[in-house]
Amino acid sequence: MKIACIGAGYVGGPTMAMIALKCPEIEVVVVDINEARIAAWNSDKLPIYEPGLLEVVQEARGRNLFFSTDVNKHVGEADIVFVSVNTPTKTRGVGAGKAADLTYWEGAARVIASVSKSSKIIVEKSTVPVKTADAIEKVLRRNCSNPSVQFEILSNPEFLAEGTAIEDLMAPDRVLIGGKDTESGRAAIATLASVYEHWITKDRILCTNLWSAELSKLTANAFLAQRISSVNSISALCEATGADVQQVSRSIGTDSRIGPKFLNASVGFGGSCFQKDILNLVYICETVGLQQVADYWHQVILMNDFQKQRFVERVISAMFNTISKKKIAVFGFAFKKDTGDTRETPAIDVCRGLMADGANVCVYDPEVEDNQIYQDLGTEKFEWDHPSPRSAPISKTAIAISHDPMEAARDAHAICVLTEWDQFKSYDYQAIYDSMVKPAFIFDGRNILDHTKLRDIGFIVYALGKPL
Ligand code: NAD
Ligand code: UGA
Repeated sequence: MKIACIGAGYVGGPTMAMIALKCPEIEVVVVDINEARIAAWNSDKLPIYEPGLLEVVQEARGRNLFFSTDVNKHVGEADIVFVSVNTPTKTRGVGAGKAADLTYWEGAARVIASVSKSSKIIVEKSTVPVKTADAIEKVLRRNCSNPSVQFEILSNPEFLAEGTAIEDLMAPDRVLIGGKDTESGRAAIATLASVYEHWITKDRILCTNLWSAELSKLTANAFLAQRISSVNSISALCEATGADVQQVSRSIGTDSRIGPKFLNASVGFGGSCFQKDILNLVYICETVGLQQVADYWHQVILMNDFQKQRFVERVISAMFNTISKKKIAVFGFAFKKDTGDTRETPAIDVCRGLMADGANVCVYDPEVEDNQIYQDLGTEKFEWDHPSPRSAPISKTAIAISHDPMEAARDAHAICVLTEWDQFKSYDYQAIYDSMVKPAFIFDGRNILDHTKLRDIGFIVYALGKPL
């Protein structure tokens, strides 16, 4: 059996590496049009930072795992083609700002149709709107000149989280496969399931119809993000009442119907998918006339925006309503720990908000590349339909990047912790305090530091959803 995967990104790379590792008799080729990305996958400096990934890639690469830019050859030869291309939010035209942009998906489908000389199983790995399989099937059938070639489309959404991708792929809560309830559909589901059965027990492989699988992925992300917005909304109430959001989270999380995970209040959720997938869900609801359902889910995003804005306003008000020309150290720019990914990171909005008020921001992040930070903060393009720190113009000179947290904090008036990197917990905060301008503030946007100890040192500490 030969598998090809179109798209060598955060999903395509790690998922195919795991399949190759666990299925040594299957040849797996990951293809991409981005030459630099493929070159990086073929080197020991992989294009993404993910704990444990390099070891998995090194074991399988060259044996039965390959990375290539020759899309036509490998897709043409494959029995199963995974499509793991990006599906961002549309920025123009009908549905702009909400609907999923399926340009890359359709492009991939056209390539598959044009190079296929044998029948194939096409696997939707990308997160797509419900009913996409229908549209893709039409593109495939109408663009393939060989009438004997059959395409069976399956939906197999990916649930890995960045930073824990290898653990998630090694032992997923479930693998979801959606397909048609026809003879060929059932056969295709069985073929794909047999790949996963190399390391995942049958009871964890869920089979559904196509539309349920597509919609389950959007729903799962919406539910996860909703938990964060819910606890973040309560963090605001905690600050107003003297309750402690961590105590509230623990208290409700011990109810087995609620559960303890995903109840950490934060400066806001980020990442490439939560916002995009909820907007996609909102758009689908609107197109089928369910405005109330659309508004319900949209509120999850509005609450997230509110949380980021609230954080910035708290920093400003705590620092005597003026941060102009004050150095503020930002610890963490990635959207979560153990990744260098900054897509939709809350740090973008927070840094913009601080810089818009005149602060000199100095960012330290252990994994994010400098260029990425400049790119994320340097653009002048803002397309928000509601008030947000992002709408303020910023100056490039207001941002500095340091590769040393001590240096980032030296002469700063405040530190904002925006990512929950473990290393932030073990710094010498006495030395950091001694090097800062007094009064020295810490705004813990992740509630990871020892606040009592910091207060004993002399810091003025503001933590999310906690009494002063
Ligand atoms: P990504 O941007 O990191 O990777 C996509 C890759 O596809 C890019 O390298 C791009 O060059 C390539 N590509 C686009 N069109 C192509 C074409 N026609 N031929 C060959 N290559 C092409 O995206 P990602 O983060 O891996 O996400 C991919 C999909 O998976 C999205 O739909 C996303 O919603 C979903 N998803 C992402 C995550 C995550 O943690 N990032 C988790 C679950 C699901
Ligand atoms: C998320 C989902 O967890 C994955 O199941 C899904 O496959 C993926 O999106 C996707 O479709 O892209 P990811 O965004 O990589 O994964 O990371 P998460 O761990 O979900 O964190 C998302 C954001 O929420 C981060 O900014 C994180 O810091 C924040 N978060 C998470 C909180 O603020 N509080 C929490 O309790 C948990």
